[in-house]
Amino acid sequence: MSITSFNEGQNRSARPKITTLTIQDKKQRREPITCLTAYDYSTARLVDEAGIDMILVGDSLAQVVLGYDSTMPVTLEEMLHHTRAVRRAVKSAMVIADMPFGTYHNDLAEGVRNAVRFVKESGAEAVKLEGGEKRVELIRHVLDAEVPVMGHIGLTPQSVHKMGGYKVQGKDLSGIERLMKDAVALDRAGVFSIVLEGVPREVAAMISKEVSAPTIGIGAGPDCDGQVLVFHDIMNLTFAEPAKFVRRYGDAAALITAAVDHFKADVASGAYPSDQESYHLPKETKAELDAILRRKQLKTYSR
Ligand code: KIV
Repeated sequence: MSITSFNEGQNRSARPKITTLTIQDKKQRREPITCLTAYDYSTARLVDEAGIDMILVGDSLAQVVLGYDSTMPVTLEEMLHHTRAVRRAVKSAMVIADMPFGTYHNDLAEGVRNAVRFVKESGAEAVKLEGGEKRVELIRHVLDAEVPVMGHIGLTPQSVHKMGGYKVQGKDLSGIERLMKDAVALDRAGVFSIVLEGVPREVAAMISKEVSAPTIGIGAGPDCDGQVLVFHDIMNLTFAEPAKFVRRYGDAAALITAAVDHFKADVASGAYPSDQESYHLPKETKAELDAILRRKQLKTYSR
């Protein structure tokens, strides 16, 4: 990192703080809700300053940042670490932390303790956890501990082995009924929003009408109350073919590659760094140093 201060400069926009109430109001007013993932200070800061409503420190961190091939291996400590970095960057957006696989699947007390850790130790304002009806009891306990919960149903990546792959859910009548029951159960339990992932548009539209909690779609069509995407997907930083629902809004891979190639070539040719990019001695010190060097040279020659 350069010695230029990283945190200073540039006006931080004074957008009002987004809370669970803002998100719920937006559904009432039929204003689309925006959510993106972020996992580090600089990205989170840009996403916040661009005016996105919610920043999810998703467990997709496991894949897009840590290089695992599923979300399963990421640990609670890793998620806490990244959530803290995001928290330090974000002024207005609501920061939600994803509870990783295995941190809320055993007993209720452990799930609640881990949810509380996200608020207490990383500054998250809510947690997200995957699953419908079967998570209702846990969700009630987490809410009792004053931690807002975002639900997540449909294609839930932590259930990839049980689902037999990353498959769109709710494609037949029993699947639709299952999803509707899950959504209603989460809504009644009091979640402040529900992620609908990998769900047919028609089903997502029905659920969005049925429940009072805002639905946040990813691969669930345009009729949800909001949309979430993985930052690395929209910026072409995943090294993989994008899923059908991903729209690429930028090509960070191309930008980074071009910049790195340019740097490499400049160092190789001596074009970097230039004299203007170098620090210089103060005039007096330079004069003193030159005098010493001249005397040294004279001594050498006079030997
Ligand atoms: O981990 C994640 O990024 C998510 C979103 C895809 C909703 O859960």
